[in-house]
Amino acid sequence: MASLLLKNIGLLATPTGSDAKRGKAQGEITLLKNAYVLVRDGVISAVGSGEVPAEYLENAEVVDAKGRLVTPGLVDAHTHLIFGGWRQNELGLKLHGVTYLEILAQGGGILSTVRSTRAASEEELADKAAKELKAMLAMGTTTCEAKSGYGLAPEDEYKQLRAIRRLNETQPVELVPTFLGAHAVPEEYKNDREAYIRLLCEEMIPTVAKENLAEFCDVFCESGVFTAEESRVILEAGKKYGLSPKIHADEIDPIGGSQLAGEIGAITAEHLIVCPADGIASMAKGGTIACLLPATSFYLGATFAPARDMIDAGVAVAVATDYNPGSCPSSNLQMAMNIACLKYRLTPEEVLTAATLNGAAGIRRADKVGSVEVGKQGDLLIWDAPDLDYICYRFGANLVDTVIKKGEIVHI
Ligand code: NIG
Ligand code: FE
Repeated sequence: MASLLLKNIGLLATPTGSDAKRGKAQGEITLLKNAYVLVRDGVISAVGSGEVPAEYLENAEVVDAKGRLVTPGLVDAHTHLIFGGWRQNELGLKLHGVTYLEILAQGGGILSTVRSTRAASEEELADKAAKELKAMLAMGTTTCEAKSGYGLAPEDEYKQLRAIRRLNETQPVELVPTFLGAHAVPEEYKNDREAYIRLLCEEMIPTVAKENLAEFCDVFCESGVFTAEESRVILEAGKKYGLSPKIHADEIDPIGGSQLAGEIGAITAEHLIVCPADGIASMAKGGTIACLLPATSFYLGATFAPARDMIDAGVAVAVATDYNPGSCPSSNLQMAMNIACLKYRLTPEEVLTAATLNGAAGIRRADKVGSVEVGKQGDLLIWDAPDLDYICYRFGANLVDTVIKKGEIVHI
């Protein structure tokens, strides 16, 4: 039996439980001083403080945290990990005041990444993402959602999802796939959007489900992309085939996405930058997790989601990166946590829950990851930091020292 004993932990900080934390509970985490964690065969089998029982040391690989902070591995619940090319050419346009939706309407933005993604092979896409995953792991991300959405045609969407599957077998960051065929209407269907929606519902969703290529179905519900009614049709089709609904809602214009999320029982609504009060109420009623993406607000020069109102209304808040080549070309979840603290005014404790347990709940992994507890996977970070305040305060730095995934050191 492979064992790893992590000892001499100055402070162990972790949320607890196997479900998202909402309201006041989001900020109530466990803090254990002078702690240790034992991982056996990839699963946490003991957590304690004080003297380490002698039997835990037998045949175990012993790792010394040297009095520093330990937390669960970070869970990035929203990324567009798989894409071809980059879009640095849009930076100049942006600086000249051309908006995100204007660039998209001119055939740029997502549609430009669709062209480069279609031109890439599954292997090329996987190789490119593998490089980023290595950086993400070094920054503490041990589990991550990955969306398709830059193929917008059956084979190109499946190619993206197969790249995710391949990466799950070849590198340590655990990936959870989401089908986002409804990321935009592709150029060839510009004049017949209904036909593309039919293709999504009648061909792509059934195939994705049958071949087990994704667990979730997502839609970009936005002005000039998909309306709330179209989003409902697509997400209901996904549900019929066993794909749980997620929705990009209220990112730029509030066109009904958050209200819809609650009504259809979406597991997450994502972005929510301009989420109205009745959207928050609907999400609270439907048990939808708000997956907030503060680095995207920062990059778009937009306002920030009303995170405090959501917590006050009993909506669980997760924080993720939104890593993508357009609105957030950064996969640094620590940075997103910093911004969440400073701009949403979440406490470091609320932010930790948001980037671990609540993120895990947003991708239906809260029974396995997102906290340091007996029975959970041994996904742990040793930080070059003494406490949580330090992490949220030292913005822009990578403060992760050692990354442990399923009881194995995967980055040091
Ligand atoms: O979450 N909003 C839609 N999708 C991404 C952006 C994708 C892109 O610009 O390539 C987002 O912001
Ligand atoms: Fe996104």
